[in-house]
Order: sequence, then C-alpha cells, then structure tokens
Amino acid sequence: MIQVRHLSHSFGRHQALRDVSFSLGKGEFVFLSGPSGAGKTTLLRILHAALPVQRGEAIVADFNLGRLPSASVPLLRRQVGVVFQDFKILPLRTVEENVALPLELRGLSDAHIERRVRAVCMALGLEDRVKLKCRDISGGEQQRVAIARALVTNPKVLLADEPTGNLDPALSLRLMELFKQFQTYGATVLFATHSRELMGHYPEAYVMHLEDGRITAANWPGAGVVRALQASAGAQRENFVRPDPGGR
Ligand SMILES: Nc1ncnc2c1ncn2[C@@H]1O[C@H](COP(=O)(O)OP(=O)(O)OP(=O)(O)O)[C@@H](O)[C@H]1O
Ligand SMILES: [Mg+2]
Repeated sequence: MIQVRHLSHSFGRHQALRDVSFSLGKGEFVFLSGPSGAGKTTLLRILHAALPVQRGEAIVADFNLGRLPSASVPLLRRQVGVVFQDFKILPLRTVEENVALPLELRGLSDAHIERRVRAVCMALGLEDRVKLKCRDISGGEQQRVAIARALVTNPKVLLADEPTGNLDPALSLRLMELFKQFQTYGATVLFATHSRELMGHYPEAYVMHLEDGRITAANWPGAGVVRALQASAGAQRENFVRPDPGGR
C-alpha cells in the first residue's frame, strides 16, 4: 500500500530525508518515531503529495507520486486520510461542518453524510460538541475533530502526524484504539509520535525510527524492507534490527 525507495528530500541545502526505503502492506500499522527535526513530517507530507518527490520513489495506494499529474492529486487524497500536526481545521465552522467537509467534496447525499459524521463524532466522544464552532472548543477537542475528519471517509491509508500531542494519556489510548480499529478494517496506518509511553502500550507494533533524515532502526520483517535495503547501501542494512519480542 505504501512503497518508498531511496527517498531523499532537501530544503535548500538542508537534507531532511536521506535514502529512506520501506514498504507497508494493506492493514499494517507503523509508529514513526524520532526526535524533533528528524524528518517525520517531511516524510508524511511527501506521502500525500503536499511535497514533491525530489529523489527516489514513493508509491501510495497505487499512485506513483513522482509521476503524479496535479489533476490526480485529489484522487490520491480520496484514498489517504491525513491528521496534521497543526490540525488545519476551520475555526469558524462547527465541528460537524469540519468533519463533513471531505464527504461534501465527494458529493455524497446529505443523509449519508449526516450518518457518517454522527458515527465518527460519537466514536471520538464529540457527540455533544457537534454544533459548536471549532474556535470555541478545547485544543484536545480540536485535535479530535481533525482525526474525525481524516477517518470519516474510511481511507485506505491513514497518515497521522503526532495526533495525540494535545491529549491526556487516557484520551490518547482511546484514540489509539480507534486507529488500531481502522487497521483491523484494512487501513494502512503511519503514525508519527514522540511518545515512548504510547508506543510502549503496543509492543507488537511496527516501529520505524528516523534520525537526521535516516531510518536508524525498524522492527518489521516485511520482505519489501529487506529487498529495499539490500538494494541500497549495505551499511544501512546493518542498522535494521529484527523484531524485538520483548517490545520497546
Ligand atoms: N519548509 C521547510 N523549509 C526549510 N526547512 C524545513 C522545511 N520543513 C522542514 N524543514 C526542516 O527539515 C527538517 C525535518 O523537519 P520535519 O518537520 O520533517 O521534522 P519532524 O521530525 O517532523 O520534527 P517534529 O518532531 O519537531 O515535528 C528540520 O530540520 C526542519 O527544520
Ligand atoms: Mg513534525
């Protein structure tokens, strides 16, 4: 569902991603960890065509992003749900209007939209907030609106950039359950987080660690990973570790 090969990205002279390769199948979930500035957001932005592929290859939901005509970007985004680090919700619109937006863009019927919006808001504990303007709700609630909006279309791929950053531990875990539920429905989830505590609750999860734009560790045995690495520098392959049964 996601295939990345030898992906590098620079902002001017600053190299934000360096020869990143991995692949994720349908229904696979990976935590993307790494310190601030490691390149997590840059990687996620490339995967939904918010940044161009400069070097290497990225294929998401069968779209080859390096060769994607701009007219096809909306088609890609129909398959990819994104939760941004800075929410990007519309403060003057209500909760339900924000969550309904991607469905309205698809021209679905009002009844269908209302049903989906209600179900997702309920799952996120927002049911008594739906009529409020987003500027009037708390930061954690705004974050849940952003998550609801990404989930409402049942995307094949979900890219989440620190989606639990503003939430207390109990709510973070509840949201994680929702993301995991999406995974069991077959969505492929790439979840960027700093929180070791959160990752510690899911010791069986795949983890990919970025540092200074490079993958310095990953723990899943996907053949694509191994192939990608064999094709790239041998030195980098040694940085990959096998699954750790004890968890992290
Ligand atoms: N538009 C930009 N112009 C210049 N440099 C950028 C730009 N976007 C990101 N960078 C730089 O690229 C590097 C990677 O940034 P990125 O946002 O991907 O890190 P991150 O891992 O998401 O960090 P954080 O955990 O703080 O969100 C950083 O050094 C950042 O300053
Ligand atoms: Mg970031």
